[in-house]
Amino acid sequence: MLTMQDVRKVYRTEHVETHALSHFSIAVNEGEFVSVMGPSGSGKTTFLNIAGLLDAFDEGTYTLDGVDVSRLSDREMSKVRNEKIGFIFQTFNLIPDLNVFDNVDVPLRYRGLGAASRKQAIEEALATVGLSARYKHYPSQLSGGQQQRVAIARALVGQPKLILADEPTGNLDSAMASEIMDLLEKINSSGATVVMVTHDPELANRASRQIHLLDGKLIDLAQERPAPLYDPSPAGQAV
Ligand SMILES: Nc1ncnc2c1ncn2[C@@H]1O[C@H](COP(=O)(O)OP(=O)(O)OP(=O)(O)O)[C@@H](O)[C@H]1O
Ligand SMILES: [Mg+2]
Repeated sequence: MLTMQDVRKVYRTEHVETHALSHFSIAVNEGEFVSVMGPSGSGKTTFLNIAGLLDAFDEGTYTLDGVDVSRLSDREMSKVRNEKIGFIFQTFNLIPDLNVFDNVDVPLRYRGLGAASRKQAIEEALATVGLSARYKHYPSQLSGGQQQRVAIARALVGQPKLILADEPTGNLDSAMASEIMDLLEKINSSGATVVMVTHDPELANRASRQIHLLDGKLIDLAQERPAPLYDPSPAGQAV
């Protein structure tokens, strides 16, 4: 579904160069639910933004759904993003001047679909997230959890193959967070691949696989595990 090989991303400002990702490689299979953990600044958002074609990178290759998307023009990136990817952000990122229905309509407007088929898709997406009754509300009239559910409806309305979520529960209390996680699991079991950044180990544990970033690289936690108390192998006895 998603393969990155030796990806490097450097942010340059006047005084500093930050290697946000270096020699970063990963493969995510179709249908997986992957959680991404790691300390602040380790490159999680950078990884997701590159995966979501929101940001370019300096070196390496990225294949998405069988297509090499390493060097696309902005226009081509937008097209692939609109067709294949749904993004969910920590701060919901809804458009305040649009009601719930129109917010969910945004990705469909790029697709030249007729009003009737858009309406049907929007109603289905709102039903999936349990917000059918709120379609005329504006974001400011909704709770945080409800706003995030609208954002999820917007992410899934175009039936993307890949859902990318950057700390989707970071601004929510634990009960709401768990509900959002239930929804992401439901979306995953209906076929979408999900990659979710989280700082919450309990939520991360619910994913089918966990990955960990440190200093812009994937780390293998198996090698970082503390040594067992008793190691019967010859190597263990040699110490
Ligand atoms: N636009 C930018 N310009 C300069 N440096 C940046 C930019 N975006 C990110 N960085 C730097 O790249 C590194 C990785 O940032 P990133 O946002 O990917 O971290 P993160 O793992 O998502 O952290 P957090 O858990 O705090 O969200 C950090 O050192 C950050 O300061
Ligand atoms: Mg981040």
